[in-house]
Amino acid sequence: MSDPVEHSQGMDEATAPARSRQRRLVVPELALVLLIGPSGSGKTTFARRHFGPTEVLSSDFFRALVSDDEADQTASRDAFEVLHLVAEKRLRRGRLTVIDATNTTAEARARWLALAKQNHVPALAIVFDLPLEVYLQRDATRPGRRVGEPVISRQLRQLTANRGRILREPFAHRYWLRSVEEIERAVVVRRPLCSDKRSWHGPFDIVGDVHGCFTELCDMLEALGYQVERVLGPSGEAGFRIVHPGGRRLVFIGDLVDRGPDSVSVLRLAMDAVRRAKALCVLGNHDRKLMRYLEGYEVNVAHGFEKTLQQIAGETAVFRHRVLTFLRHLSSHYVLDDGRLVVAHAGLPEEYHGRCSPTVRRIALFGVTTGRRDEQGLPERINWALSYRGRALVVYGHTPVQEAVWVNQTINIDTGCVFGHKLTALRYPELELVSVPARAAYYPAARALLTPEDLQRPLLLPATDEMMPEEVTVGAGE
Ligand code: CTP
Ligand code: MG
Repeated sequence: MSDPVEHSQGMDEATAPARSRQRRLVVPELALVLLIGPSGSGKTTFARRHFGPTEVLSSDFFRALVSDDEADQTASRDAFEVLHLVAEKRLRRGRLTVIDATNTTAEARARWLALAKQNHVPALAIVFDLPLEVYLQRDATRPGRRVGEPVISRQLRQLTANRGRILREPFAHRYWLRSVEEIERAVVVRRPLCSDKRSWHGPFDIVGDVHGCFTELCDMLEALGYQVERVLGPSGEAGFRIVHPGGRRLVFIGDLVDRGPDSVSVLRLAMDAVRRAKALCVLGNHDRKLMRYLEGYEVNVAHGFEKTLQQIAGETAVFRHRVLTFLRHLSSHYVLDDGRLVVAHAGLPEEYHGRCSPTVRRIALFGVTTGRRDEQGLPERINWALSYRGRALVVYGHTPVQEAVWVNQTINIDTGCVFGHKLTALRYPELELVSVPARAAYYPAARALLTPEDLQRPLLLPATDEMMPEEVTVGAGE
């Protein structure tokens, strides 16, 4: 899995020398962190220094809780049972959780990795991998309990045998600390998960699936009060710059490309606006396909991708690379405005808001399915919006509808522009809908747009291009 957290741009010049002495451990604000290392490696000391007291769940502490003796190994089973329960509750509530236990066996780690997966949070490993003498010397001099050489040697053998395995286990990040000095230099830097934009308060203009309809996008921007300026990029290529006098920002709900006449210009405008923080964009399933193609994967040249392929054929390698980098950094969804607003291409049930996993990404891009397939072999899709009872408003697209209508606290604003209907935006927080008509039908619709009545049915018919990949690999946004 690649990077689930945001990165700051560059380094502050003044602090650069100091920072170069630091060993920076970037930890997402929501994650399950496993400390791994034999007894005496300094896990508890490290946890105390870098994390809050309630964030750290220590096996010793739980042993003491259930038996009044942190060294009582017969209490381990009970202690871990309670520890696991507390970790589960914390992760469900979206709290960073650090497991302070040796975790040198694959079985121990597997349990935690499963818990992280269940809760759709990234798992991190911080490995304390020191010479045996350090553990033994500390054990001999530590006040209170002694673990003893045989146990410590066994744990070190386990760690040694597990080094390669830890590298293959599905941790989002592994930090390997190989000396006392390196542990001393460690600083934990917390970063929001890439979907976490709670500090962005709007006002926003959330735009439905554009699908290469650049003219209609410009019509929409004009209707919303944006000024669109043509600019030249660093290598002389044409670009577009948007600005709103009221400081409003755009949010694209994905599917910028395919089917329509000018996906390249749509990309240029969106990329510039996102780069300058004038817009956000979530990844749509069509955008993902373009990303996969640019990464060199074989993709199905159909459902409008053939048009994008023609349109990017004349573009430079530099442009393609910029597009790939842009797409790789798009998140599956965003949580905005202190959690009051969520945007995801195909919508998102509440349990996944602000989470990060392949499942979250698959659902955000392709929708919720029953696991069954219909007679055409297409996945049966659940109308998740009907049972949505979450606090946040969820704005999405993906399945074209005749009209954007509210279903509970959700609204689908893909009004099938590329099929000749209209492009729709939702102004937030005003919750006003703005639509501009399509200038033409650029692509034949495989089926009629959903009616407001269709949106009240428990199952949604799949569109013909909604083949969900069996396995969605996680891109750089997650
Ligand atoms: N210690 C030390 N210098 C460090 C880190 C730890 O002298 N840089 C000492 C601690 O004071 C303690 C002993 O080493 O007496 C073990 O450290 P601890 O953090 O408790 O190690 P853990 O890995 O947590 O050991 P255990 O698995 O037994 O809990
Ligand atoms: Mg300890």
